[in-house]
Amino acid sequence: MTNEVLKAIEARRSCRSYEEKQISAEELSAVTNAGTWAPTAKGLQSPKMVVVQDAETMAKLERMNAAVLGNPDAHPFYGAPTAVVVFADTQVPTYMQDGSLVLGTMLLAASSIGLGSCWINRAKESFQTEEGKALMRKWGLADTYEGIGICILGYVKGEIPAPKARKEDYIVMA
Ligand SMILES: Cc1cc2nc3c(=O)[nH]c(=O)nc-3n(C[C@H](O)[C@H](O)[C@H](O)COP(=O)(O)O)c2cc1C
Repeated sequence: MTNEVLKAIEARRSCRSYEEKQISAEELSAVTNAGTWAPTAKGLQSPKMVVVQDAETMAKLERMNAAVLGNPDAHPFYGAPTAVVVFADTQVPTYMQDGSLVLGTMLLAASSIGLGSCWINRAKESFQTEEGKALMRKWGLADTYEGIGICILGYVKGEIPAPKARKEDYIVMA
């Protein structure tokens, strides 16, 4: 069985090389709007998506992320011009699942409209630093929020490598 959604799920890949050109406001809004439609436990909609597009903040976030990696020379955003940082409220027991699903939904939406995207890790550690906490305050986020992940977005540069085959024992029939 197949349909457009199932095909889109299989076609999504992580992109690790981006054109400099910024994505359009319409594309950004399609992706973030999709994120708001992810299911959340009890329908609480507790996650927050913070859209970052200005070069200065992008560079700061990337530097913070590289510091967590332990390699200040790394470029963990791969030149992507947009980052959507997903936070979720640790006061909600399912915050991690809720935030992860928002992020996963955005990745899929991005792919479905032809954008490159990738989940970038280390959001939790990045926003536990004094610099990170200051950014959260600036963005109006309570200190009960935790960084779940970063969805980088942009136009794909070059070819994305073919995916690995799915594991044979991925699905277990009970
Ligand atoms: C929780 C999580 C964290 C990830 N962190 C990173 C990351 O920091 N950097 C990166 O390049 N890719 C990251 N990825 C992307 C995975 O490496 C990628 O999804 C995996 O290799 C499968 O490739 P695909 O997305 O093209 O199917 C992350 C994915 C997930 C789900």
